Amino acid sequence: MSASLKIGLGIIGFGTVGQGVWKHLSASKRDMEVRMGVKIELIGVCVRDPKKKRAVSIPKTKITTNPHEIIDDPRVNIVCELVGGTTLARDITLHALRQGKVVISANKALICEHGAEVFDAVSKFGGQYFFEASVAGGIPIIKSLREGLVANRFSQIVGIINGTCNYLLTRMEKEGLPYETVLKDARRLGYVEADESLDLDGIDAYHKAVILAFLAHGKWVPRKNTLVEGIRAVTLEDIHRAHEFGYKIKHLAVIRRNFGKGLMTLGVYPALIPLDSVLARVDDVYNGISLTGDVVGTTILVGRGAGQDATASAVIGDIVDAIRTLKGASFKFLTKADLDSYTSMGRTVRMAKMDEINSRFYLRFDISDTHGVLAKIHQAFADEKISIARGIQYEHPGTGRGTVTFSTHPTTEAAMERALRRLKRIKTVLEAPLVLRIFNPEN
Ligand code: NAP
Ligand code: HSE
Repeated sequence: MSASLKIGLGIIGFGTVGQGVWKHLSASKRDMEVRMGVKIELIGVCVRDPKKKRAVSIPKTKITTNPHEIIDDPRVNIVCELVGGTTLARDITLHALRQGKVVISANKALICEHGAEVFDAVSKFGGQYFFEASVAGGIPIIKSLREGLVANRFSQIVGIINGTCNYLLTRMEKEGLPYETVLKDARRLGYVEADESLDLDGIDAYHKAVILAFLAHGKWVPRKNTLVEGIRAVTLEDIHRAHEFGYKIKHLAVIRRNFGKGLMTLGVYPALIPLDSVLARVDDVYNGISLTGDVVGTTILVGRGAGQDATASAVIGDIVDAIRTLKGASFKFLTKADLDSYTSMGRTVRMAKMDEINSRFYLRFDISDTHGVLAKIHQAFADEKISIARGIQYEHPGTGRGTVTFSTHPTTEAAMERALRRLKRIKTVLEAPLVLRIFNPEN
């Protein structure tokens, strides 16, 4: 078959993901060209430091430090934005879209913060924007929401969507290793964002959850309406205590929608989930997403959530979709009609308030090991009508201190917040409690 259409590819950002894309694409390029009847040519690669040693080599003549040289080249129809961040990445993306080009991205931060503007530029200027690699690495979750599961209204989406947090918690749990030791390995393996706080403080998972919430419910959820917590406060001790209670600690994104009441919640936090749930068995850098739809029931997707190869797999899938649209395939995503339908979906939902969100809780904190302290703690809970399901005190002989852990029956976020304020005023409670939610992601 003769290759008729020439596809010009520009890669902006040639780090972990950019190199992975070219490594795998160049290996399968011939097959892909034959199957799609096109000729794919890498026109250029943009980096910050052209002298840096890279595992994947590119002819020097193709390397530039000026992204505009790539975007403005008339031979380039597909621009892969693999720089990250929200400043240069936003400029690159909008500049390419305004020229009606196709942009492919793995940049969840950009979509979360500027998605409305980016999608608007797509529908205004007729380009395309593909972003499968932005959520859950190699799992085709965006395609699943847009295509395979499109018949559904989702009452619950629960996901382990930060590979780094999952990797850290898994190795701490299985090998009893301290957080800092495991973090070094995660960095070496290319899982961690350049700004590590994005992973460790839950912000990366929030960015991804916002994308999923938009695709499922048509609403861009602002940060102020969400609960965003990372894993820094979780200790080896909490992991062991959770086991004793029959749970495992996983860092989760939770998006719930009550269609009857028109309410939605979005939260990102470490939580205790039953040891025998499917998500509890999603370990290491793997991601898992459980989607509960009104037609399909619960579907769980599992796969590698971070790293060079998994992410490259998603980007290359997008390149193939992009080529299909360049060849005139009728399927287009993010057209004006598409976006209008999302916007109208989002109008029928409001974010739930703290007294409308129910949960069971796990708490762990140190106390003075003296008479009356437990009575005061119990009273603080009782006054807020919080019922304790289980409570254990661990003695630290010779220190005058003890550690207590509690699990509660369901209560509201607002009641728990009030109880925590009460605990703060008890002198024999020596620290702010670590508070984790408890639930079954598959119910
Ligand atoms: P990375 O390894 O830090 O690579 C970033 C690349 O962008 C580097 O090649 C860097 O050039 C280039 N760059 C940065 N600033 C530049 C500038 N001002 N001008 C030109 N080039 C510039 O990042 P990554 O891990 O590949 O991540 C890329 C994107 O993919 C991010 O949005 C990230 O969130 C997303 N993502 C990453 C993963 C993962 O597992 N790593 C998974 C999913 C999504 P130099 O090489 O010269 O410094
Ligand atoms: N740092 C991200 C993670 C990369 O650990 O999940 C994949 O998006």
